[in-house]
Amino acid sequence: MILENLSSNIKTIVSPDFVWGAGISAYQTEGARDIDGSGKSIWENFEQGRRIKDRSSAAQACNFYNSFPSDLSMMNWLGLDHFKTSISWPRIMPDGGGAVNPKGLAYYDRLTDEMLNKGITPWYVAYHWDLPQALQDKGGWVNRDIVSYFLNYLEVCHKHLGDRVDNWIVMNEPIVFAGAGYFLGIHAPGKVGLKNFLPAMHHINLANAEGINFLQAEGAKNVGTALSFASIQSVDDSPKNEEAAQRVHATINQTFLDPMLGNWYPTTIAPFLRKIDKYVRSSDMTRIRATPDFLGVQVYTREVVKHSYLMPYLQAKILSAKKRNMPVTSLGQELYYPALSEILDWLVSHMGSKKVPLYITECGVSMPESDTIHPVEDGYRMQYYHAVFETLLPHIQSEDVRGLFYWSLMDNFEWAEGYTAPFGLFHVDFNTLERNPKQSAYWVKELAERLKRG
Ligand code: BGC
Repeated sequence: MILENLSSNIKTIVSPDFVWGAGISAYQTEGARDIDGSGKSIWENFEQGRRIKDRSSAAQACNFYNSFPSDLSMMNWLGLDHFKTSISWPRIMPDGGGAVNPKGLAYYDRLTDEMLNKGITPWYVAYHWDLPQALQDKGGWVNRDIVSYFLNYLEVCHKHLGDRVDNWIVMNEPIVFAGAGYFLGIHAPGKVGLKNFLPAMHHINLANAEGINFLQAEGAKNVGTALSFASIQSVDDSPKNEEAAQRVHATINQTFLDPMLGNWYPTTIAPFLRKIDKYVRSSDMTRIRATPDFLGVQVYTREVVKHSYLMPYLQAKILSAKKRNMPVTSLGQELYYPALSEILDWLVSHMGSKKVPLYITECGVSMPESDTIHPVEDGYRMQYYHAVFETLLPHIQSEDVRGLFYWSLMDNFEWAEGYTAPFGLFHVDFNTLERNPKQSAYWVKELAERLKRG
């Protein structure tokens, strides 16, 4: 009954060409990292440092590399016609630059053809965090040379797949891989401090903009990038806390959006960003701009912020959701349904005339699940999608939201959390590799059927 109401509400608002899809990423699912000539990525190294919560690794992950034909049948079963995954840079260029690995490219050929044969439209993310270790050995994103390595890699991807692939997402969530990987050291490559973060941030911004411009110049039809955002609120309305919240907001939500829009870094709000000047060359102001065909929006939570003299750079502290007595996800983030629509409101006002069409390129949640019975009872996930879609609906037309991808098609390797945070519509038994639809998969399937019924 409730699904009936939701689907008819969606139908009155959403056009028939609205994109409904699901996503995964290469490193989180493919496994098969030591075969067919693949190079190593920074994550493989990071895992060896015992930095993963359950001490697991992505060596096998979901074995998507070998099981993609049946996994794509799960997409057909769900009734979702768009599939987002990423290309593994070390798989196709084991040293990051130079020689191309034909077997790696052949795999992405097979994958792309299988999607197309099954009536599924491919969306490829060029960079979803698995930097070739060979490039990290040269400094990774901290070394400015990475920009040209990245463009060479993009050229290989597009040259090879561009005849069949229209939809390209240049980067996935730069603030997360720059912040967690080059400032906090909790993601690969485990680097810390401003001296790593600021140059990494600037080089990622350059690579992102030049990547978008390059693919557009090559004639790719739909080129975007996917940024993550968090809804930021001050703990109260005191000016001190409000200003602290603005600094956090600028750092998380603007550092990878503003430069692309031609607005440079938000140094007035977050003065510590001025130190970026050290890494900037005179032509960068121009090189860092791009007009993507769309922006991918990924919002998982909100953060509540308080002023703190003790915190370096930001003088702001993010209050833990648990300590605020709010419901939390497996990642310890607040379960907060309106976060996405709050960000959409902000994006529209912030981007102004530079606003481009939006896709929700990831939408998902993870809470502890029991897998002793199938289908896995993940009522919380259905509740999440239901609530988020309701808050999203009023934005779809006015803000030109053109699609949404469920995250994730199946449970997978959740980075530093290992296998402790299941995000899938399908449960994966990581011993047998068997997949089974969860209750939410039936919900998604029914919604897709209702929406297609016309
Ligand atoms: C990332 C995914 C990840 C998801 C859930 C996003 O930040 O793009 O790779 O699985 O969040 O944490």
